[in-house]
This record gives sequence, structure tokens and C-alpha cells, in this order.
Amino acid sequence: MNQFNNNSRLGLPNLGLGVGLRNKHFNHLLENPPVVDWFEIISENFMDDFGFARHVLMHIRKQVPVVMHGVSLSIGSTDPLNMDYLKKLKTLAEVVEPAWISDHLCWTGVAYVNTHDLLPMPLTEESLDHVCSRVMQVQDHLQRPLVLENPSTYLQFKSSTMQEWEFLSAMAKRTGCGLLLDVNNVFVSAHNHGFDARHYIENLPHEHIVQMHLAGPTDCGNLLIDTHDQPVPSEVWKLYQLAQNLTGGVSTLLEWDANIPDYPELVTELFKAKTVMQGYLPEIKVHTTDATVISTPVHFQLETNHD
Ligand SMILES: [Fe+2]
Repeated sequence: MNQFNNNSRLGLPNLGLGVGLRNKHFNHLLENPPVVDWFEIISENFMDDFGFARHVLMHIRKQVPVVMHGVSLSIGSTDPLNMDYLKKLKTLAEVVEPAWISDHLCWTGVAYVNTHDLLPMPLTEESLDHVCSRVMQVQDHLQRPLVLENPSTYLQFKSSTMQEWEFLSAMAKRTGCGLLLDVNNVFVSAHNHGFDARHYIENLPHEHIVQMHLAGPTDCGNLLIDTHDQPVPSEVWKLYQLAQNLTGGVSTLLEWDANIPDYPELVTELFKAKTVMQGYLPEIKVHTTDATVISTPVHFQLETNHD
């Protein structure tokens, strides 16, 4: 038990429906109302920027809530936590006053090398202890609950002894952290590794889920890739419907990071969430491409040396 365990859903509000704040829409958003309920920013894109991007961010922040979503925390790495990064994160949070701060259950590098990839964790008791200890340190530093997202994965460690939903559940209960449930990532990983996406969602601790991500993946042959460049397919909407019913309704964010449509089209895609929750499921197939045919998922042998 710790200081962040006292509230169900961590006392964090349901913000409604939001989108990511992206450069492509800056000018539109300066001249038009945001229409959506809230925005998510990529924290790193605004840390050292005091120019136009920061101006747009503060213009938005005066109108609606903002959530800070990071990609560099590397909570799973064996490198020490990057205190310079955490200080910058906290400084940005003091300016933005985000509803919460999130990142991913992953590691992005080791030996001080940043791969700029969100790499999957070996899911073991040892790595769970390691991650929980670091989550507690980050929460102490930020003086707020951290929210961590399930990643999309394309390989698994042979040394893993638990399922990802079991790892996330144990981590959330032990540290009091929040969970960002990316239903598209569950769909992608379930396809790539052959598990039941509904079972995954049904077995999470729903009282810890404070946010969801929606996105459209690409079918590249044997693997689904989390490309964030397509409309949300029907299967993902079905998982979203399930997860919203199980949680009682939490903040929802549409991620669209490549081939980004104009702002009105983006908002139209987001607002499909309303009709989905009224029982209407859009008929949208998973986008397929034969441009990049990727072979079967990898099972990686983790060599551990305890000497
Ligand atoms: Fe996501």
C-alpha cells in the first residue's frame, strides 16, 4: 500500500473524447475552437520548445485539459532513471498543469543508448520488482500517480513467466499507478502472439484504467503493425466498447501520427466513439499492405547472468 492507492481510478476525471496535439493542426487550432474535450501532447516535443509550439499549447490549455504523454521514460531499462529528463518533465508539468502524466511499459535503450523504440519487457517476477521500484521513484519525484500504457509488441521473451495483463495488474496494484489501455495495441499484440484480446481486457484491474487509446493498425502479412495512420477498424471498436463497459467509461484519445487527416476529418473519426457506445459499430476492415511483408513473430531468448 502506498500514498497513491487511496482513490479508485486514482481520483482522475473522465475527460471525454480527445486527440493528439500535432503540428499539422496548429494553425487551424489557433483560428478555430478545439471542438474536442481535451488534448494529449507528446511531452518531449514541448520540453525545450518555447516558440510557436509552446504558444499553441498554451492557447489550447486555456480552453481545455491537456494530458502529457511521454516516450522516453524507459521505465523498464536497467540504466538508472534519467533525472535530467524527470526534472524537465516536472518543469513542463508545472507550466501545463496536465490532468495526468503517462508513458509506456517498455524500455527504450540500455547502456545510455536510446533506440527511440518502445521495446517489450521480459515479463518475470524479477522485472516486475524492478519496474515497480522505478514507478515508485517516478511517482515520488512527480508527486502524482504515473499512468503507464500497454505497448504493441512484435516479439516475446522465452523467459517470461506471466502474461502481460498479469504483469500490468500486479504493477498497478503494487504501486498505485494508473493504466492507459491502448485497445489497438491489445488487438495488435493479440494477433501477433495468438492470445485472446477480450480475455486480456477482461482481466485487467479496471479501477486503475484512467485512459484509453484508439488507433488504426496495418496488416503487413503475418504481423499487424501499430502504424497509427488509418481509421480505427471494427475489431478495435468492439474491444473499445467492451473496455468502456467494464471501466464504466474513461477518457478516450484517438492517436493518428502519420498520414494525418485534416482536423475536421480527425474529429469525425474520434466522434465515432459516441455512436459505438450507442451500439453502432462502423464496418471498417484492417488496412492491409504488401509493401512491407514481415515474417512471423520472434521469440527472443533472454540470457541472464546472475554472477
Ligand atoms: Fe497508444
